[in-house]
Amino acid sequence: MTAQLIDGKAIAGQIYAEIEAEVAELKEKHGVTPGLATVLVGENPASQSYVRSKQKTCTTCGFNSIGEHLPADAPQEDVEALVKRLNQDPTIHGILVQLPLPKHLDEEKILGMISLEKDVDGFHPVNIGRLSMKGRKPLFVPCTPGGCIELLIRSGVEISGKEAVILGRSNIVGLPVAMLLLHRDATITICHSRTRDLPETCRRADILIAAVGRPEMVKADWVKPGAAVIDVGINRVEDPSAKRGYRLVGDVDFDDVNQVAGYLTPVPGGVGPMTIAMLMWNTLAGAKRAAGLID
Ligand code: GUN
Repeated sequence: MTAQLIDGKAIAGQIYAEIEAEVAELKEKHGVTPGLATVLVGENPASQSYVRSKQKTCTTCGFNSIGEHLPADAPQEDVEALVKRLNQDPTIHGILVQLPLPKHLDEEKILGMISLEKDVDGFHPVNIGRLSMKGRKPLFVPCTPGGCIELLIRSGVEISGKEAVILGRSNIVGLPVAMLLLHRDATITICHSRTRDLPETCRRADILIAAVGRPEMVKADWVKPGAAVIDVGINRVEDPSAKRGYRLVGDVDFDDVNQVAGYLTPVPGGVGPMTIAMLMWNTLAGAKRAAGLID
């Protein structure tokens, strides 16, 4: 038996259909068009490509989009001034500062300057703080972690009462996805480079989230039969037979784990498409909040 494939492209498509219907109503009844500003500092090729995709998707969703690009050596004050200007712009409902920022910049300070109401990445310290507390709700949930949860829910995977193991403790994925699973009453274990017996710990998981950036690290004997496995990794591995000289693989050895897991996301086409869909969802929520339609 092989796992049920969790098709992130198809599930993102459902979310876009929901967004499309809401945007039409928002424009027609309230004269509001959601607007997203992306801030890119420097020339990191992966970041450039992510930002381009985000802007393109804004257009297909009928959103306004502003793309701000600063040079790699932009001083802290210039980035802060840009964020301040975007905070004041009433046509902008979401501000996304693409990470990682160049080393000389104070990331924490810059993310903390984004207006809470426009923090569509959910990385503002207050939104992260609320996400990390019982009974508090952030205004926005980080996009990739939120996408992982949507994939589970929309595939009918039960979360409450289950053992969830998260591989990786990054601020962007591992830590926030752990908090989201905890809010949904999973029992969570967060693994990292010092965790002693990774395979054994992972085998406890009913839900396994892999977000470490190690190509095909998770093997079949790390996975409990029937578990739901969400692969957040996107790794380039050399492949002379591929047109570009490389192919993309996840943190999970797909063919191996496919024999054991109950549910499995592919790479590409699993979590990847969900990140941008959730960003659009958050931007729409920002616009609805600005129009007084939601709390
Ligand atoms: N870099 C990698 N993932 C993300 C993300 O979700 N948001 C931002 N802003 N930067 C990223």
